[in-house]
Amino acid sequence: MSKNIIKIKDIDELHVELGYQCNLRCIMCFQKDYTQKIDPDIWKKKLLPLYPHLKRLIIQGGEPTVIKASKELADLALQKNPDIKFGIMTNGLLFGDYWQKLFVDHGYSVNFSINGADKEIHEKINVNSDFEKVMKNLEDLIALRSAKENSLEISISFVIIPENLHQLADFVDLAKKVGVEKVRFFFDASRLPDGVEDVKKNIASALDGRKKYRGGLEVEGLLKFYEYYCFKKKIDNVYKQEKESIPSRCVAPWKSLYVDHYGKLMSCCMSNIILGDLNKNKLKDLLNVKKVLDFRKKMSKGDFRYCQATCLENIKPKYGLNISNSRGYLEKFLYDFKQSPSVAFKKVWRKLKQLK
Ligand SMILES: C[S@@+](CC[C@H](N)C(=O)[O-])C[C@H]1O[C@@H](n2cnc3c(N)ncnc32)[C@H](O)[C@@H]1O
Ligand code: SF4
Repeated sequence: MSKNIIKIKDIDELHVELGYQCNLRCIMCFQKDYTQKIDPDIWKKKLLPLYPHLKRLIIQGGEPTVIKASKELADLALQKNPDIKFGIMTNGLLFGDYWQKLFVDHGYSVNFSINGADKEIHEKINVNSDFEKVMKNLEDLIALRSAKENSLEISISFVIIPENLHQLADFVDLAKKVGVEKVRFFFDASRLPDGVEDVKKNIASALDGRKKYRGGLEVEGLLKFYEYYCFKKKIDNVYKQEKESIPSRCVAPWKSLYVDHYGKLMSCCMSNIILGDLNKNKLKDLLNVKKVLDFRKKMSKGDFRYCQATCLENIKPKYGLNISNSRGYLEKFLYDFKQSPSVAFKKVWRKLKQLK
């Protein structure tokens, strides 16, 4: 049997997007709607056969701490598999006692999306947030983690946009000061900062911070941002020989699944291959559809054409729309269009802004 054919028990990691509800309105948030939710049958029934075998379950929103189904999903998964470990990205505002305990006892990863190094910039970007409250929740989580034996990784993240570009180095300092082990930089390709010299200066000082804290703090995503920035601005990338970390060989096509709030099944959130629709099909009937077998075959040969270029594990990124990735984008658009034409068009508009 081909090693590309997989079974339910082979899946280690499941990522479930439960809906788009959120208590904040971050200025760069890529969500185009804050009401949509997953049909509970998807996670209560269709995904049920997976839970006993999973190593990791990522609960995603919107904002998971305000989505009622998040707690119910965590309870159900733990009931079926007491060894399961959870991952989450949260804005942190409501990450109080329940969430802190759940993740210290059963979590492998918590990321607080802070996006600014001080109250002013944080609250300008994470609209409706409260910097002191978020930092208190983070500090309490770190304190609870050190009081118990556990393997939880805590990180903070920052989406690079023009409004916070000047705080890259300060954010690395904040991560060190607060005591997380990782700081993650993402970027919004449709809101790149204009001033090339400013970007160069701020990247250089943040990379100095990375050097200063090496061994005690992992800094991820700065070089990926700069690689993309140089491509878009057609400037030389002086850091092209540097590596942030050695990317492990991506095993997502064989080991992971991602379900969005429509019930659309994919290998991961960064691939463009839709395995199918869980509203219409059983999970086991989608695991080995022809297009995913083709995807696995290509990935086993190091061909990343179906993966988004911004994925950190994509070691051969091809930026921009090209013949090899356009089919995936078109399929995703048609799928989203059937669910909600207005949201689908908003997503296309954002993509077009990135291509400018
Ligand atoms: C959509 S959010 C959902 C989870 C949660 N509400 C949060 O903010 O962490 C997932 C991650 O994407 C980041 N993000 C939001 N808008 C983005 C954008 N336009 N480009 C890149 N990342 C973005 C957020 O900061 C967060 O770290
Ligand atoms: S907290 Fe997350 S989901 Fe909510 S608006 Fe901000 S980025 Fe979007």
